[in-house]
Amino acid sequence: MTNTITKCVFPAAGYGTRFLPATKAMPKEMLPVLDKPLVQYGVEEALAAGMSTIAIITGRGKRAIADHFDISYELEHQIQGSSKEILLHEIRNLIDQCTFLFTRQREMRGLGDAILCSEPLTNHEPFGVILADDLCSNEDDPVMCQMARLYEEHQCSIVAVQEVPIDEISKYGVIAGEEIEDGIYRVTDMVEKPPADKAPSNLAIIGRYILTPDIYEILRNIEPGKNGEIQLTDAILEQAKQGKVIGYRFKGQRFDCGSIHGFVDAVNHFFSKFSPDE
Ligand code: UTP
Repeated sequence: MTNTITKCVFPAAGYGTRFLPATKAMPKEMLPVLDKPLVQYGVEEALAAGMSTIAIITGRGKRAIADHFDISYELEHQIQGSSKEILLHEIRNLIDQCTFLFTRQREMRGLGDAILCSEPLTNHEPFGVILADDLCSNEDDPVMCQMARLYEEHQCSIVAVQEVPIDEISKYGVIAGEEIEDGIYRVTDMVEKPPADKAPSNLAIIGRYILTPDIYEILRNIEPGKNGEIQLTDAILEQAKQGKVIGYRFKGQRFDCGSIHGFVDAVNHFFSKFSPDE
């Protein structure tokens, strides 16, 4: 597809405390769903959308992510010519097609701050954002592909939204907006983690965004919110006030792999599609 967006940011500096002790020494982005780490699913989705520059925001203890997207000479030499070689084909192809950039977020100052760290890597261009622990599945048309197409039409920031049961809404950022086409909303307001009776809708923001580069200037000037964190939602709200944000009810399924329940659902979902000769 023709695509003006070639870069995708992966904020991956969080501690993943909901998955302790598994995440004590291992990044949560490396948790495998079947035989593939979460972050690899995300990179595959980005590449399918034409985003081949992958900018990963890491932190201390996250080196395994960079190693995963590099050649492993010893291992590859060891299994060369054996039946196991095929198991690395997919990741080798992915590595060959992408450029990986890494930077560290030194302090955990929130998702907004993590995005701000990506500024030197995105070249003043619009970019995708994937939170790898939100695993999305839609075989024929991955979610980021759907969003990249929408960007071509609207040329503004886009947040992926999902209808969630009202008793779960307080875990999410929530949008208010006017539905301009089926599943496409002009966002007028956004509230981070509202109590159920104050939520402006049942449309929760999930971990897929397309952001225009003016977001950086907004992030730089934003006051830290809850817990001293710079909230990405607050910055996108500034764009929304200028009528420049679309909420998109994507097609497909999404699993919150940062939680045990979501992770187990994802494993079951992918296992149900797994064929033993793969
Ligand atoms: P989460 O709050 O879901 O991730 O942040 P977490 O902090 O790793 O998880 P828990 O709650 O402790 O279990 C959403 C995304 O934003 C990134 C995280 O890595 C995750 O992908 N993030 C969050 C950062 O990169 N930096 C931050 O300062 C905060």
